[in-house]
Parts: sequence; structure tokens; C-alpha cells
Amino acid sequence: MEGKKLPIAVFVSGKGTNLQSIIDAIEEGKLSAEIKLVVSNRSKAYALERSKRQGIPYKVIPSKSFKNEQEWGEELISAVKSSGAKLVVLAGFMKIVPTNFIEAFKNRIINIHPSILPSFKGLDAQGQAYRYGVTLTGCTVHIVTPELDAGPVIAQAVVPVLPNDTEETLAQRILKHEHRIYPQVIQWFSEGRVVVENGKVTVLGARYGTLPFNPELEKF
Ligand code: GRF
Repeated sequence: MEGKKLPIAVFVSGKGTNLQSIIDAIEEGKLSAEIKLVVSNRSKAYALERSKRQGIPYKVIPSKSFKNEQEWGEELISAVKSSGAKLVVLAGFMKIVPTNFIEAFKNRIINIHPSILPSFKGLDAQGQAYRYGVTLTGCTVHIVTPELDAGPVIAQAVVPVLPNDTEETLAQRILKHEHRIYPQVIQWFSEGRVVVENGKVTVLGARYGTLPFNPELEKF
């Protein structure tokens, strides 16, 4: 893709399908970004295989190797700073990031969560939604603040819970929409269109305040 590429760091812990969707969007010319660094807190994360395959630099920085959260945070700060990344993308990073890290990159850390926040914060959001019995759920991309899953919302996609769904089929369907909206949000950052003011996000020039719809829902 022509034009300026946004340097990003992607934080992972597991399979890394969201990382893959970012890699693919860059390769397809839909996302003007460059992954400068992948950080994992787990050495066995499959996401690291994706980084290796792609020749993307990666670092394993487990919290348990440090005396305390502050020191872990300092290591994360220095890794991101020396990579040159200007946006930190948490993509299935299963650890709460330290407060000093959040302060160092204020409004420049984003996360994807598999529910329509503020519903179903925390772990296993898809299972929480399934067990509650909601008929609509989805995913949210938000700015990371010290309070878990509570930062300003940038984009959301709605996913229906279908009669024959299991927790697994629902989670799979949500994941497909994560892969759709996360690269889109990073592209908005790359275009300098994400403005955070008074705890709310505006996406300059967007047709919607956020990305509230799922094109499949238009059929219902
Ligand atoms: C996704 O569902 C994401 O929303 C959640 O963890 C999962 C990560 O999946 N935070 P992957 O590692 O990107 O495949």
C-alpha cells in the first residue's frame, strides 16, 4: 500500500489469529502499517510461529521473569520504544498490562475483546454471553486504560447468537468479525483519524460513530 506505514507492535499470548488477520491485511494492501515487533508473554504461543514465518522480530517477555509489575512494565516500554512502534495492538494478550506501560503509551494501546462492552468483561466473554442467553453479542475494539476492558470504544461489531450455537460456534463467528474490524481500526489510526477526547473516541470522517453493524445482520 502506498503512503506512510504506521509502525505497530502486536502483543500476543496464544494462537495469534488476530495477528494473522493484521499480517494478511497488510499483505493485501488494505492496511498501511508495519509490524515492527511481536511481544509474547508465553514462549510457546503459536503466534510466535506466525511471526517467524513472516520474518517479523519478536520478543518473549513473561511477567514472571520480573520482580514486580513495574519492572515488567519497564521492559515492555523499552522493547516497544526501541522497535519504533507508535501503536501497541493487544491481540489476545492474556495478561493485564502494567500501569506504567499504559501511562507511557497513553491512548496508543488498543485491545480487542470478544463481547459488546461494557457487557461481559474479563475472561471467556463468549461463554459468559452464551450462558447468560443474550441474543446478540459481538466484539469491541477499545483504547486500553488502567481499568480492565473499560477504555473508550473505537469500534464494535454485532453478532447474533443462533438457536443451534454452542459456545464454540459462537466464539468462532465472533472471531471472524474480530478479524474484520481490528485491521480496519488500525488503518484508521494509520490515517490519523482516531481522536480521543473526554473519554470518548471520534473517528474522523466515519459514516458511523463506531462500526456498529455486521453486514450479515442486514439480511435479518
Ligand atoms: C480473541 O477472541 C480475542 O478477542 C481475545 O483473545 C482471543 C485471541 O485469539 N482477547 P487469537 O490469539 O488472536 O487467535
